[in-house]
Amino acid sequence: MSKLFTPIVLREVEIKNRVVMPPMCQYSAATDGMANDWHLAHYVSRAIGGAGLIIMEATAVEARGRITDYDLGIWHDEHIPMLRRIVDNVHRHGAKIGIQAAHAGRKATAGEVTPVAPSPIPFSPDYKTPEELTAPQIKRIVEMFREGAKRAQAAEFDLLEIHGAHGYLINEFLSPAANRRTDGYGSTPKARMRLLKEVIAAVRDVWPEGKPLSVRISAVDHIPGAVELKDTIEIVNNLKDTGVDIWHISSGGIGEEGVGSIYPGYQVPYSERIKSSTGVKTIAVGGITTCELAEEIIANKRADMVALGRELLRNPYWPLYAAKKLGYDMAWPKQYEMAKI
Ligand SMILES: Cc1cc2nc3c(=O)[nH]c(=O)nc-3n(C[C@H](O)[C@H](O)[C@H](O)COP(=O)(O)O)c2cc1C
Repeated sequence: MSKLFTPIVLREVEIKNRVVMPPMCQYSAATDGMANDWHLAHYVSRAIGGAGLIIMEATAVEARGRITDYDLGIWHDEHIPMLRRIVDNVHRHGAKIGIQAAHAGRKATAGEVTPVAPSPIPFSPDYKTPEELTAPQIKRIVEMFREGAKRAQAAEFDLLEIHGAHGYLINEFLSPAANRRTDGYGSTPKARMRLLKEVIAAVRDVWPEGKPLSVRISAVDHIPGAVELKDTIEIVNNLKDTGVDIWHISSGGIGEEGVGSIYPGYQVPYSERIKSSTGVKTIAVGGITTCELAEEIIANKRADMVALGRELLRNPYWPLYAAKKLGYDMAWPKQYEMAKI
């Protein structure tokens, strides 16, 4: 009996299987952050393909927080109708859909604006030197996450994910590699996690009680003296009772070192350690491409869900094939039933 194809319930949301499409920027929005037909086709295809949960790409809570000019946005009410259309169509095919609320911090390159960050340290010599955020400016960004969450609810998303990974704003606050502040948002591990804690509180305040909240986090920085797995375990332990329902365990991105070596399941050990030492639910991601590995991760409780990024870009129908191979009789879209393997 396949464990990968058992449902999971997060708060009041039942997800039909453990297969997640993780957030992946499409860099295909208009410069005003609006979603379009590409996003509709892209996300709905993965719902037709049988993924249980689709998490929409990094979506900026303010225009200045976009990675590029072509990122999706959720900083304006005008973004809501097209997002709602995508959500409705994904639901029609039995999948649940989340959105990743994001702020790119010092890695923002959209427009001519100066990026913002905890400290005025550029990501690399090719990036602009960011402006150091003042405490009132940090509060305004927290409010933008709150407003974004309200709009995500208006668009009827099932789950909201806070992007706390990959060297973007929240990760920059968490990491001593980017955060050199000496005020209440820096200098100690507790102070460095304060922005994430405030964002979680603001989002949870408006995000419906019955809907789950996820946080994506980089488990390790791959930089000597910066965030190591033990530090992330401390972060998760500190924040696990603040209303986060599942932690999406990635790594790297704070520096040019990237994510280290990539091999099948390269980040699964981080998920496994965080899950076993804190008791939280996790999503494992990174180099997971086979149904055998995905099944093993769930069956051995190394994660509660598995995300397949590039594999689902290559093959939107991966879950239909995986179910067949694992001996699970998954319902196919009725239009495709004559092709069922
Ligand atoms: C095209 C592309 C865009 C991505 N955009 C995002 C993003 O918006 N947010 C995010 O947290 N990770 C993003 N990622 C990282 C993926 O979610 C995932 O963690 C990574 O690709 C590793 O998983 P994989 O080996 O299954 O592809 C992106 C990856 C790719 C390939």
